[in-house]
Amino acid sequence: MNRIRGWNTSRLLLVAMVAVLAAAFVASPLAAADKSMPSDKVLQALVQDAHAKFKDVKEGASADYIPELAKVPPDLFGVAIVTAEGKIYTAGDVDYAFTIQSVSKPFTAGLVMQQYASADIILDKIGVEPTGQKFNSLMATQTIPQVSVNPLVNSGAIAAVSLVKAKSAEDRFAQIMGFFEKLAGEKLTVIEDVYKSEAATNQRNRAHGYILFVSDRIYSDPMEAVDVYTRQCSIGVTAKQLAVMGATLANGGVNPITKTPVIDKKYVPKMLAIMMTAGFYNESGLWAYTAGLPAKTGVGGGIVAVVPGKMAIVGFSPRVNDAGNSVRSMKAIEYISDQLGTNLFGSGK
Ligand code: DON
Repeated sequence: MNRIRGWNTSRLLLVAMVAVLAAAFVASPLAAADKSMPSDKVLQALVQDAHAKFKDVKEGASADYIPELAKVPPDLFGVAIVTAEGKIYTAGDVDYAFTIQSVSKPFTAGLVMQQYASADIILDKIGVEPTGQKFNSLMATQTIPQVSVNPLVNSGAIAAVSLVKAKSAEDRFAQIMGFFEKLAGEKLTVIEDVYKSEAATNQRNRAHGYILFVSDRIYSDPMEAVDVYTRQCSIGVTAKQLAVMGATLANGGVNPITKTPVIDKKYVPKMLAIMMTAGFYNESGLWAYTAGLPAKTGVGGGIVAVVPGKMAIVGFSPRVNDAGNSVRSMKAIEYISDQLGTNLFGSGK
């Protein structure tokens, strides 16, 4: 008979399984300190490691289709983590204000959900399908059924701006700015030189505005929406501020530093789902495959990744790849997520 001192096989197996799981948990950085979050020491060491490991990577190039962006020093590199409890860990150039660019897009989609008290406003009026094309693809805007793209490519982001409830163009921008400031917990300012530079060269975005207009998929004056979108993209944020914005999502919509409720928690999973499927444009599949975290990139070099319930991880580095995604920021976030085992699909270990 298969019995050891009164224990049958299935009971022994259960005990062995519990022991293996416990050992795995103790070996993981997530087991440190309060057993659900890594210790201050682990997180601070990780951002420093990630910075040191990738600071000499020179792949990619500063975006120059917005001429002023090419003037940002390309060697800047910052890495930041802000937890859902509001703890901040940083390394490198985390106080340099860069333009938020497309990292702004999910936040404006969130503002629209909040204003209309509906996540489906985005689903119905814009769409949530990844295009598999570049962020500014006119072909995607024109050919995807019903011009249904998603709020994270340029056309969908312009449509999201057009949905913001406002009395005037100034008010529309003020609504967006006010929302971003609540997410960051600090006053923000537009980097005017980048705004002017993009406003003078954004003919492609104006084309998106008109395609949306002739397809009944824009909800304010199209050129007004394009201009407010351009200002939105030119809002300056530091890596630290961006990490607080992301941590507000990680914390269910409540800013973990100021404790201000900013967005209803029911909209956060919708925002994160769109970030997971479309946050990296034609590299979204690759990002899900390698990092497994909802995240958003911008041609200013910023990337924010969100670990729901736990933290935001941010990288800032101006050199971007062909898809418009910051090379060092991607590497730093992937490294940190890998070390912490925060890939939402599991680590496979
Ligand atoms: O509309 C544009 O082209 C820019 N303001 C934003 C593009 C962007 O950030 C693409 N992302 N990686």
